[in-house]
Amino acid sequence: MELRHIQLGLRWLTYATIGIMRFLFAHPGAIRPTFKFILSNVHALPRHLHYKTHIEEEQARIKGELARCSDYFKKIEAYQKSIDIEWLKRNPLPDIYRWARLYILIRALRPKTVIETGVAEGESTSFILQALADNGDGFLYSIDLPNQFYITTKGKFHAEFNSPGEQPGCLVPPELRGRWKLILGNTFDTLPKLLTKLNSIDLFQHDSEHTYETMTFEYESAWPYICPGGYLVSDDATWNTSLLDFAQRHNVNLTIIEGQGFIQKTK
Ligand SMILES: C[S@@+](CC[C@H](N)C(=O)[O-])C[C@H]1O[C@@H](n2cnc3c(N)ncnc32)[C@H](O)[C@@H]1O
Repeated sequence: MELRHIQLGLRWLTYATIGIMRFLFAHPGAIRPTFKFILSNVHALPRHLHYKTHIEEEQARIKGELARCSDYFKKIEAYQKSIDIEWLKRNPLPDIYRWARLYILIRALRPKTVIETGVAEGESTSFILQALADNGDGFLYSIDLPNQFYITTKGKFHAEFNSPGEQPGCLVPPELRGRWKLILGNTFDTLPKLLTKLNSIDLFQHDSEHTYETMTFEYESAWPYICPGGYLVSDDATWNTSLLDFAQRHNVNLTIIEGQGFIQKTK
């Protein structure tokens, strides 16, 4: 491990501590869940001090998973006439977790324009971009405001930190970045502007702040712009009832597979 990496790791630790202290000054009621979170995540600290190895290992893992998704889709597209939500429930590549489902949905849907909120290190971003690259079509706009803290609807402290010295999306393979624009900012400011500019989108994926207010804001903002046949996908859709309430309000079918919510816009 190089001294430079330890220095960056320590600087990251200082920023994270200052950020949490500021958060606690603004939200004194959050002291208990915050300390509970810190105590249960102490084991993750060495990863941040060792961050370069962590990033390299993660990049290699993602590369392998992307290649497996591509191979898998090539095999199934020969005999699979249509891929819908019912088909996605079969959990194609269970060890690749939820992003394999997103990859396959995008291969089947062939969207021209995708928006996602929440990038962090860029796992979902990589899978979306790999699917667009394999389709040979489409563009992804990602919105991210790094290093955020909040209290969930269930009263738990939640933190999202970038790795030391890294921008959002540090895991995204360089060769996939041609179909990608990263917008840094809060979704409350940036999402409405982006939607107005694009006018129509084929797929919206939420994975930013999982609070009732933010999730509802993003679903309601994106929905009018999703074209017929397009999808609204939400990660961690069961953290609160925002997606369920949204589906009821709009009288649309909601499917949740392992916490990942899917709504197809039919008209
Ligand atoms: C769950 S992580 C995203 C994980 C990512 N999709 C992946 O696959 O690795 C959520 C990200 O959203 C960011 N975020 C939180 N609140 C936000 C907001 N209001 N606007 C934009 N980004 C936000 C966090 O800082 C974090 O980077």
